[in-house]
Amino acid sequence: MASEIGVTVTQHLLSQQAQHGGATGAFTRLLNELILSAKIISREVNKAGLVEILGFTGERNVQGERVRKLDEFAHDMIVRRMEQSRQLCVMGSEEDADPIEMPPHAEKGEYVLLFDPLDGSSNIDANVSIGTIFSILRKQSQGVDYQMGDLLQPGFKQVAAGYFLYGSSTMMVYTTGNGVSGFTLDPSVGEFLLSHPQIEIPSSGKIFSANVGYWDYWNEDTRAYLDYLRKPGPKKPVYSCRYIGSLVADFHRTLLYGGVFLYPADSKDPRKPHGKLRLLYECSPLAFVVEQAGGAASTGKERIMEVSPQELHQRVPIIIGSPEEVALAEEFFAGRRPRAEGA
Ligand code: AHG
Ligand code: MN
Ligand code: MN
Repeated sequence: MASEIGVTVTQHLLSQQAQHGGATGAFTRLLNELILSAKIISREVNKAGLVEILGFTGERNVQGERVRKLDEFAHDMIVRRMEQSRQLCVMGSEEDADPIEMPPHAEKGEYVLLFDPLDGSSNIDANVSIGTIFSILRKQSQGVDYQMGDLLQPGFKQVAAGYFLYGSSTMMVYTTGNGVSGFTLDPSVGEFLLSHPQIEIPSSGKIFSANVGYWDYWNEDTRAYLDYLRKPGPKKPVYSCRYIGSLVADFHRTLLYGGVFLYPADSKDPRKPHGKLRLLYECSPLAFVVEQAGGAASTGKERIMEVSPQELHQRVPIIIGSPEEVALAEEFFAGRRPRAEGA
């Protein structure tokens, strides 16, 4: 199967499809359209400083955030290509307040796509890594038209999830429930080539990733947890703090090196008591990836993959990474503290 350039993502998808007897190729067609979108977004991101695509559009999105031109470009690119895929019945995007229906003339399909077209967009002008996050669900309702419940499905219902990372190289990391595979774009041939066949997160690490600038807005359990991680102890490593401010980049480092990323609930904005990150197109897909890599993802109180969504842009607190650090966080968030050494 591998050629002289290695295994392409399309060959990998087809081999996965072959393992699903009766697969029609619909999913492969859907993912290939998404991959093409990401290649085009990667091209624009990599030359953003040279063309008039930095800066703001002047509008604000449903999140109340100023929309950057590259946010809008990535959103529009994915919507247009997905409409042509004929495999979706509806989409949900961070950049659109409402579900995105298929055009009246377009053939509809059995899948639902939720996506963050450009994650970490506040970093674009500073040439810091950014990404695209996607989550694919199967339509649950009868008939060709979608119901809101087709979008508001808990994470364990996902059929696939992953992300594209536009960094020093452009990568694609995804899972369909059979482990996690990573691909690196070779721009000379325009193909994503298998570079990380079976990603497994270390059981624990030495890095925590959180915006400690919000320390005073965090609750007592959050502060106690991070205080424990950062303080030296006889049987624990000295942790470093790494925070890029692009979820995809912070998550990808955590996935490969181990440790923990958290964006906890905070009191800095009463309109967002559950933190900033969105369940359906940021937390759920990354939770699927991390669990498939042997890690864990929690709100502090429950498994992210079991949160029952109530609305499209719902926010949840998230603690995600190595199983040992996430389990320890859940102890702290249950009000329990580790016994002092030697006690
Ligand atoms: P987006 O650019 O899609 O709105 O996501 C930004 C998110 C996420 O990428 C990152 O983890 C977080 O914002 C950083 O938020 P703070 O600046 O509040 O730390
Ligand atoms: Mn985001
Ligand atoms: Mn975004």
